[in-house]
Amino acid sequence: MDPVATSAPAFANTIDLHINGTSHSVTIDARVSLLDVVRDRLQLTGTKKGCNQGACGACTVLLDGERVLACLTLAVQCEGRQVTTIEGVADDAAGKALQAAFIEDDGFQCGYCTPGQICSAIGMLDELRRGVASAVTSPESSLPGALSDDELKERMSGNLCRCGAYVGIRSAIQRAHNTGAGRRTP
Ligand code: FES
Ligand code: FES
Repeated sequence: MDPVATSAPAFANTIDLHINGTSHSVTIDARVSLLDVVRDRLQLTGTKKGCNQGACGACTVLLDGERVLACLTLAVQCEGRQVTTIEGVADDAAGKALQAAFIEDDGFQCGYCTPGQICSAIGMLDELRRGVASAVTSPESSLPGALSDDELKERMSGNLCRCGAYVGIRSAIQRAHNTGAGRRTP
């Protein structure tokens, strides 16, 4: 008898996940990450697995509009909440603007980090709009305000690009921010 086939039910949970506006009922081990559910169970492979330990940002998605690392988020924590992956960002004004800006400004090379960069940038621009300070925001700054290069680097520092396409990535995010197209409707 296969021991793997008989060991899972003790931890199995059936949960409803709302992803990109669609409900999915999935029966999963309670220890499974959101990343593994979206990629392996729901075939939403736009979200990438890089380090699988919270260090690269390739797996960034939006949970109730806030950016999170899907590899460090349990799928069971997401029940009843709204998950947006890169497949769903075209329905979002900020997402659409950022996707266009990444193409316009060559914000990628291999593209592996790009879904995470765009999801993270959507969440980051929304944090800026809401006046959330970063580690480099000075007490004199009035938020929301201009997105300086230091602010942008700091706020996107959790998203690594192994191709080193940072110049284009920053330019694309600045373009979306400066045109106002990157701002989400409240
Ligand atoms: S795969 Fe999640 S942070 Fe690297
Ligand atoms: S474009 Fe290749 S890892 Fe960023």
